Amino acid sequence: MNRAPDLGERLLYQEALSLTERAYAPYSGFAVGAVVVGPSGRSHHGVNVENASYPAGLCAERAALAALVAFGERRLRYVAVAASGGRDCLPCGMCLQALAEFGDPEVIAQVGGEVRVTTLRSLLAAPFVAERPVAGVAAGATSSEARVPRVPCIGEAADEAADDGDTASDEAADDGGVASGGGSPS
Ligand code: THU
Repeated sequence: MNRAPDLGERLLYQEALSLTERAYAPYSGFAVGAVVVGPSGRSHHGVNVENASYPAGLCAERAALAALVAFGERRLRYVAVAASGGRDCLPCGMCLQALAEFGDPEVIAQVGGEVRVTTLRSLLAAPFVAERPVAGVAAGATSSEARVPRVPCIGEAADEAADDGDTASDEAADDGGVASGGGSPS
């Protein structure tokens, strides 16, 4: 199921579309822009970055995801993705898996010539999940003892993160609106 975007979601799509001008896609000619939003409401930007060695190329969504994580956020609420030239573009399978690590965001994309909103889980019902890296293995801990505690993301209380040690797939409870641009973590 998918639905029409609200005003904030439409603006996020437009933001992703304007980013396509910065994409580096000389090999495919398929310029993609992506905006991801976490609990802070800030937009994090990504574009596809291709390479002469084709598999070394990066999709716009994973570039935006890296910006969100580098900013200090670990939850996704919205992912907007757009291609230049009025072309449809949904996140590829690898990007869906990468995004699923950080929740079940609304995905805003053009499908069949129309901008629509759906959930990530509707596009990837069963992402691969695993326990957290075994940082304590060198100290002889079992894998369950060695699980790395999750660092709270912006806007989330530390005890919320502590309660959520298994996967990052639970969406943060609060559902504030979309806000673009600006701001830094405080
Ligand atoms: N691409 C993305 O950036 N995101 C997607 O979801 C689909 C594909 C890029 C990868 C490559 O640079 C170009 O689009 C053509 O596949």
